[in-house]
Amino acid sequence: MREAFGKLGSMTHVPPKKVKDGPVHEVVLTGDDVDLDQLPALFTWPKDGGSFFNLGLTHTKDPESGVRNLGLYRLQRHDKRTIGMHWQIHKDSRNHYQVAARRGEKLPVAIAFGCPPAVTYASTAPLPGDIDEYLFAGFLAGKRIEMVDCKTVPLQVPAQAEVVIEGWLEPGEMLPEGPFGDHTGFYTPQEPFPALKIDCVTMRKRPLLQSIVVGRPPTEDGPLGRATERFFLPLLKIIIPDIVDYHLPEAGGFHNCAIVSIDKKYPKHAQKVMHAIWGAHMMSLTKLIVVVDSDCDVHDLHEVAWRALGNTDYARDLSIVEGPVDHLDHASYQQFWGGKAGIDATKKWPEEGYTRDGGWPDMVESDPETAAKVDRRWKEYGL
Ligand SMILES: Cc1cc2nc3c(=O)[nH]c(=O)nc-3n(C[C@H](O)[C@H](O)[C@H](O)COP(=O)(O)O)c2cc1C
Repeated sequence: MREAFGKLGSMTHVPPKKVKDGPVHEVVLTGDDVDLDQLPALFTWPKDGGSFFNLGLTHTKDPESGVRNLGLYRLQRHDKRTIGMHWQIHKDSRNHYQVAARRGEKLPVAIAFGCPPAVTYASTAPLPGDIDEYLFAGFLAGKRIEMVDCKTVPLQVPAQAEVVIEGWLEPGEMLPEGPFGDHTGFYTPQEPFPALKIDCVTMRKRPLLQSIVVGRPPTEDGPLGRATERFFLPLLKIIIPDIVDYHLPEAGGFHNCAIVSIDKKYPKHAQKVMHAIWGAHMMSLTKLIVVVDSDCDVHDLHEVAWRALGNTDYARDLSIVEGPVDHLDHASYQQFWGGKAGIDATKKWPEEGYTRDGGWPDMVESDPETAAKVDRRWKEYGL
């Protein structure tokens, strides 16, 4: 994946730019003046375990390499000066926290609200840990993102942000987080997550605090997932060139199912693609992969169902494997890993054991000339 981004050399032409100051520092509150109750947090679903800031962009740095990470993780407001950091097990800032904990060091954290849209989107994008989300944001925005130094932590945040909260995370300091009505449409149970003590809040004089509502799909985060699906197709094609197109149904929370089309070139090509996806960065969490031929529109779920339901002999075309699943997955019998399936819904070849007389049947399709003629004459038919 890193190589894939390397090929997008233009990303490096728009690196973030440090500026001396910005509107986000119009007001600076420290010590006892910090009061998170002054910021509106959302209590959304009846069984939520508290109030949450849902669109805060978390900034951390790897304590050893110094590489920055930007990630969107929900934040539970525990009290006036403490928030819960819900970074899941596969996420980059969680990894930074693990490195700091191993070294016995506290981790500086800055959380920015109301950033430029390209920055907000980039915080949700499944980039590898060593790619700076601010390069991607600059690439998307077509201009350099202006950054200012934080007041109490050695990190930088967008100068144009509305509100920033800063603090240090002590290794091992955890509090129960959740339950939370999540984007899967189910509640995620309470779990211990690191608790961040806030030392400083900076903001504009009249700040607007952005938030987002998640829940049973479709909800407000849907367009972000769809943007990722489209932005990442060229990158996915670099690491798995076999892929012609793919679709991640929103009902599957984007990570539960991938429908993939290929130009089949050799026996069991579909199975190769399934395993490549199960080995590809965050796509590895996909539970169900359906592989179709490239003449199938992967975005037409009716057509995909027709192929997948009709084209399969489950004794041969179903692959069952085990592997990591999303932190939020509630169906696996234990947390973090479980069973996955791949369905090969491509046309089967004699070389794959499909030896029936006459080979794979043709699809029923109109003769294009006749169809065009009928189309031309609709008016005459009076319909
Ligand atoms: C609205 C919304 C809320 C999210 N909440 C969380 C969350 O609470 N915890 C988490 O680990 N990921 C959450 N994510 C997904 C991460 O933002 C996404 O996986 C991102 O790539 C993480 O960045 P990282 O790979 O740099 O860790 C959320 C995404 C969206 C769109």
